[in-house]
Amino acid sequence: MTTVLDVQRFKDEGRRFAVLTAYDFLSARILDEAGIPILLVGDSLGMVMLGYRTTLPVTLEDMLHHAKAVARGARQALLVGDMPFMSYHASTEQAITSAGRFVQEAGMHAVKLEGGGRVVEITRRLTEIGIPVMGHLGLTPQFVHQMGGFKVQGKTDKQAAQITADAVALQEAGAFSIVLEGVPSELAAAITHKLRIPTIGIGAGPGTDGQVLVLHDLLGLTTGKPPKFVKRYANLAEQIASAATAYSEDVRTGKFPGPEHEYTANGSAPAKDRSQGSPRTLGEASEFVGSEEVRYGG
Ligand code: KIV
Repeated sequence: MTTVLDVQRFKDEGRRFAVLTAYDFLSARILDEAGIPILLVGDSLGMVMLGYRTTLPVTLEDMLHHAKAVARGARQALLVGDMPFMSYHASTEQAITSAGRFVQEAGMHAVKLEGGGRVVEITRRLTEIGIPVMGHLGLTPQFVHQMGGFKVQGKTDKQAAQITADAVALQEAGAFSIVLEGVPSELAAAITHKLRIPTIGIGAGPGTDGQVLVLHDLLGLTTGKPPKFVKRYANLAEQIASAATAYSEDVRTGKFPGPEHEYTANGSAPAKDRSQGSPRTLGEASEFVGSEEVRYGG
């Protein structure tokens, strides 16, 4: 299983690594078997899976629900639960309670928190009690209203210096890695060079130790135009639409279900005359009661 020590080793040995988001059992199982070493149950699930315009409405209960499913699917990956807005902002005690639930109830191995400042002290406390912390600096979506939108951060010297100082402070507080999102490539590379712990970039250029993407972005399983930093490796939205259209057409024309999709009693032949598309008789329907295993998602 990948641990935070392995992640540090990746950096020490100069091995670049991939991180992806996972929000459910199936994607976690597939990505885990594909050898992705870190799966992030990101609060981006609020926008990707739940249709919110920002990540702010996502609750701790939403996150735990998805994190539990991911933990059921993954066997090898390091699992990181994203602490949602207002689950760690009220007090350090609240942060400890929320992070504890990610580990104790949802089977996460680490948590991610956005921002510097107060988060540095929270990182120190969580690390002290054995909950590894991934930091997140730059374009931090939970600050969307303060940033005036989802805007690239760290373009001015002042901002760049602040992000660098926060990164160093998080490292000193015990963070095992830091996500750098939406910052100029030069800044991300400079921070990566300065830190002992690994950086994980998204929209931060090639100079970070790891890269993270939202799974649905790389799969092309979205409805809109992807951000500039996304590379699409598939176009699943189009494939799903064309599969659904083909299925609908087969149902309409009686091509589906075919004999190979039917259950029969005692091996008797499936109903042959489907050319009329007429419904089966009650007698024929009773043939469907059998001992074959029926399950979903097979
Ligand atoms: O919520 C998320 O998916 C994230 C990543 C994009 C880093 O924070």
